[in-house]
Amino acid sequence: MESEEPGWRLQLAGTKGRGDEVPPGMPLTQRIKNGLARLVVPNPTGVPHAQVSLILYDDRGLPTGRLVDVALGAIQHARHEDLSEIANRMPERERWPNHWPGEHYKLLTGIVRLIRPRIVIEIGTFQGLSALTLARHLPEGGAVHTFDIVHHSRIPGCVLRDGDLREGRIKPIVADLTRSSVFEQYRGLFEAAELIFVDAAKDGVMEQVLLDRFESVQFQARPLVVFDDIRVWNMLKIWRNVRRPKLDLTSFGHWSGTGIIDWVEVDGGSHGRRASSGEEAPTR
Ligand SMILES: C[S@@+](CC[C@H](N)C(=O)[O-])C[C@H]1O[C@@H](n2cnc3c(N)ncnc32)[C@H](O)[C@@H]1O
Repeated sequence: MESEEPGWRLQLAGTKGRGDEVPPGMPLTQRIKNGLARLVVPNPTGVPHAQVSLILYDDRGLPTGRLVDVALGAIQHARHEDLSEIANRMPERERWPNHWPGEHYKLLTGIVRLIRPRIVIEIGTFQGLSALTLARHLPEGGAVHTFDIVHHSRIPGCVLRDGDLREGRIKPIVADLTRSSVFEQYRGLFEAAELIFVDAAKDGVMEQVLLDRFESVQFQARPLVVFDDIRVWNMLKIWRNVRRPKLDLTSFGHWSGTGIIDWVEVDGGSHGRRASSGEEAPTR
């Protein structure tokens, strides 16, 4: 149970509730801005794991029926998921995978159980928790291709073991997909992706760069694209500007925001398989 100390703890975008760690890649200017925001806006709740955010009306990208169905189904699966095998690889106070709601891990397994993707792409491996989670219910022959700019063995507290990688269900790749020449190397992989999970720098730039790159991909399978931390300040505008069908699933995902996009073909732009008729009516 969380202790309710007064004031903000140094909680920065992209951490998993540890409260005192700075994720690799976060620029100094961003850390300073976050610190100043906490000074200017006093935390009225006293909850230490908290960040400055904004509530807003978002009428862009109304969800498809498919998104609502996936959300409901994934939540049902999440209720019954036990991620102790993964959580127990962490020190006791950091067993985030079994924290639900509040963390996204059980929701991710629920999505995989529902859509049974053979090709999952993760951007942001870090300690390997979400890679393990995404790999848990993959169908036969499925794989999680997990990208990071830092090799997982260099991340303190990494939970990935040799055995996890041996079967080929988790494929770590050290590469920076924000660089266009690097993205081109993996374009074919993206074209075949069925589920993409983006959980990287949240520096206010890279997630937008990735979304722009995704716009150029001829997706074959109408992937779902999940974004972590959509309620984090740096992500608000980027998430708001997504004009594809999308759904904010924060109450059933990560407390700092979990959003899911249905990468269906839309008017005026796009790749992604067009859905069968009737399926795509927005829910409002
Ligand atoms: C919040 S952590 C990921 C946590 C992990 N997905 C989980 O849920 O357990 C963010 C990771 O993104 C990585 N990252 C930062 N910039 C990146 C980039 N351009 N491409 C890939 N990964 C990047 C960082 O090195 C860091 O390991």
